[in-house]
Amino acid sequence: MDDARIGEVQVVAGGTEAREFLGAVRSGEIGAAVWGCGHIGASALFHLAVAGVRCAGYDLSPARVQDIAQGRFLTTAVTHPAPRTITPDTATAPLLIRASTDWRDMIDQRIGLHLVCVPTDHGRDPSSAALEDVLPRICEVILATPRGPWPAVIVIESTIVPSWLDEIVLPAIARAGLELGRDVHVGAAPRRDWFSGEEHTLRTLPRVVGGTTSEATSLIAAFYSLICQTVKPAKDAHHAALTKVVENALRYHGISFANALAVGLPRYDTAHVLELASSKWNIPYYHPSLGIGGHCIPLAPQYLMAEAGGGERVELIQQTVDFNAGYFERLYAAQLARLLEGCARVAVLGLAYTPDARMEKLSPAFSVLKTLRREGRVVRLHDPYYSADEIRELAGVETLRFPEDLKDYDAVVLVTAHTPYLQDAIEARIRPDAVIIDNFGAWRARPFPDGVRYHEVGAG
Ligand SMILES: NC(=O)c1ccc[n+]([C@@H]2O[C@H](COP(=O)([O-])OP(=O)(O)OC[C@H]3O[C@@H](n4cnc5c(N)ncnc54)[C@H](O)[C@@H]3O)[C@@H](O)[C@H]2O)c1
Repeated sequence: MDDARIGEVQVVAGGTEAREFLGAVRSGEIGAAVWGCGHIGASALFHLAVAGVRCAGYDLSPARVQDIAQGRFLTTAVTHPAPRTITPDTATAPLLIRASTDWRDMIDQRIGLHLVCVPTDHGRDPSSAALEDVLPRICEVILATPRGPWPAVIVIESTIVPSWLDEIVLPAIARAGLELGRDVHVGAAPRRDWFSGEEHTLRTLPRVVGGTTSEATSLIAAFYSLICQTVKPAKDAHHAALTKVVENALRYHGISFANALAVGLPRYDTAHVLELASSKWNIPYYHPSLGIGGHCIPLAPQYLMAEAGGGERVELIQQTVDFNAGYFERLYAAQLARLLEGCARVAVLGLAYTPDARMEKLSPAFSVLKTLRREGRVVRLHDPYYSADEIRELAGVETLRFPEDLKDYDAVVLVTAHTPYLQDAIEARIRPDAVIIDNFGAWRARPFPDGVRYHEVGAG
């Protein structure tokens, strides 16, 4: 990294200290530790190691630690069936990173940066348990590490309620007898990567970073310029942390609005209207769907309401959460029940909430199964990334053979557009009078037989 590149991130005003700090990181004088080596932590380790940073990883899970030690960075939950090109996010690289299930192994490694990547949710709610677990350990490592010219830096990459910085992070540091600004800097550098596909990676996505002081922001921004093409400094750590929560909440709102249109205007092709509306320069495109799933978006309002001190302080967010709580039932009543009338056997395709990933958290597939089964139908679920046993355990239904069993079903609900579902000539597999419900219109252009009733969610 040369000076010009450091200047490019526009954070090193006068920048001697940040430049020297970066030099120490690049020379290996200062190492970086990653606490929690799941999706987020492992990809941080990978990119840092590729950039030549001396890295150490700590995780409770022996399996994750073994994967990292053997150069396997992606968790098995992320599946790239046929990556067109090998990128840092899809490669298996022979990088040597010290990974351990014993956090004390960090003590002798001259660690100057601690990146916190532990989970911060439990079910549908934010949870600070893992953060509270690792912070005293990080402080112990800092206390046991000989002091260099710079304070140690703790950066929270996990999504947090911003006020946890005041309520949890800073008190843990003070309890350990460390002084903010003298012994330790604190910052937030939330993640926004999208692990499906190769476009939105840690390297390509602009990285918002902020520290508790401008000096901290400057050091943290310089550090992330090593692995991120664009670094965007926030006013401070709180604003950086809030940015993550707000951007997810904005998506939550946009998607909910699209879904509200699908329910409220069932005679219209609202998917089509929203697509046309998005041709206006300042309107993003949202497609109505079977519901909002995943690790991040459905939880965003909870982080925001926690920060605001209650749903009543951010009334609009609370109303949207209430709308989503009963959303699939409403969509079913407004559009799907009529279509599925007389369909005694329904095949549901896709358990994951996103294509080509083994991630089922809060997937709309669960609501679909619940509603359809309640009406006494025979409902079966297939997902190429889950075994029959896993499907039974996670969703409480039996599986079916794809594609050969589809002919035995009156209706097919495509929840997740996994690549195998797109590659198959599905029109030749289904019954000639089948009903198709397609979450995002992935089969819209298929030449279905005339007797097939095809319905794209939101399309009237
Ligand atoms: N996955 C995403 O797409 C994504 C995107 C942006 C932000 N985030 C945020 O990043 C954070 C981490 O998410 P993730 O997807 O990497 O989670 P993950 O479940 O894939 O990984 C978390 C890892 O932390 C380990 N862990 C749990 N408790 C621990 C503890 N007390 N000490 C040490 N290790 C511990 C687990 O064993 C696991 O390997 C969360 O705050 C999440 O909201 C995730």
